[in-house]
Amino acid sequence: MPAKIVVVGSFNMDLTSYAERMPRPGETLPGHKFVTGPGGKGSNQAVAAARLGADVTFVGRIGQDVFAEAALNFWKQEHINTTYVVRDPNNSTGVAPIWVDSQGENMIIVVLGANLAMTQADVDAAADVIAGADVVVCQLEINYDMVEYALKVAKAKGVRTILNPAPAGKLAPEVVALADYLTPNETELEILSGISGDYEKAARSLITRPDQHAVVTIGSAGALWVTQDSAHTIPAFKVKAIDTTGAGDAFNGGFAVALGEKMPLLDAIRFANATAAISVTRPGTAPSMPNRAEVEALLKGS
Ligand code: ATP
Ligand code: RIB
Repeated sequence: MPAKIVVVGSFNMDLTSYAERMPRPGETLPGHKFVTGPGGKGSNQAVAAARLGADVTFVGRIGQDVFAEAALNFWKQEHINTTYVVRDPNNSTGVAPIWVDSQGENMIIVVLGANLAMTQADVDAAADVIAGADVVVCQLEINYDMVEYALKVAKAKGVRTILNPAPAGKLAPEVVALADYLTPNETELEILSGISGDYEKAARSLITRPDQHAVVTIGSAGALWVTQDSAHTIPAFKVKAIDTTGAGDAFNGGFAVALGEKMPLLDAIRFANATAAISVTRPGTAPSMPNRAEVEALLKGS
């Protein structure tokens, strides 16, 4: 049985420019490539999970524009259930102008549009599918109230929750407590905890119960899994990174599938590292997500 994953989150159309280096303030630089592609942290994580074989439902809001049509076509192609995607009449589909340099590093500005207009009614419409999920995944590109609400609906039904607190923002402790698995990157961890430098201490400061886990993604160093009384580093796979945009999303999509399939946690994190490692060897966000056979092959070869 495939894992049932529900992602309550964002879609953005990614407008990606590739250049040798990032521009300085006030500078105009020539780029050598421009690509328009489906993105948004929620949708990217949904695509990663679907390509890995999960049964995925996406809950979110898009506008009435061409980017919204492109999103719907893309999700259909990726076999993602879009029954609970709302077409917002008043707001544009989210967009994300992205710059990627020759080292594969990225800078992003998101204009979230319709993503920020999600309502309780949108989440309530999906309550049955949330109740039947193995894992519910949220990020921070929709209005925070709806992140909290979706996590509450999931927890009330005993469904396991992943909160990827990205992009970085401050959250009330009650919201953090709704996450069974918290998956910040280094910056997000620092902003959430207010502690810099010591990742283990920072991650532990966010955990308030024995069955809660922080899995901090640390780029090419892999991931740090922290509980109230333990910490383990799970190294990344060695690959040649050409575009790390969406690496965190690949990690979260892979992690959700692995948890949904009831893998032991160390295996689940290795599976997530493998998913993300392949994604950084390819350009783009959602289009760079690997399929199951590719991830299994990397895991076997290691
Ligand atoms: P982004 O914002 O670029 O999507 P992120 O900052 O959310 O990424 P990272 O911690 O940079 O997330 O990376 C997520 C995961 O991707 C890492 O835990 C690791 O598994 C994998 N990863 C990232 N960079 C590399 C790399 N250079 N080589 C191998 N794996 C990588
Ligand atoms: O994590 C990468 C994503 O962040 C991009 O797809 C972009 O849309 C922004 O939301």
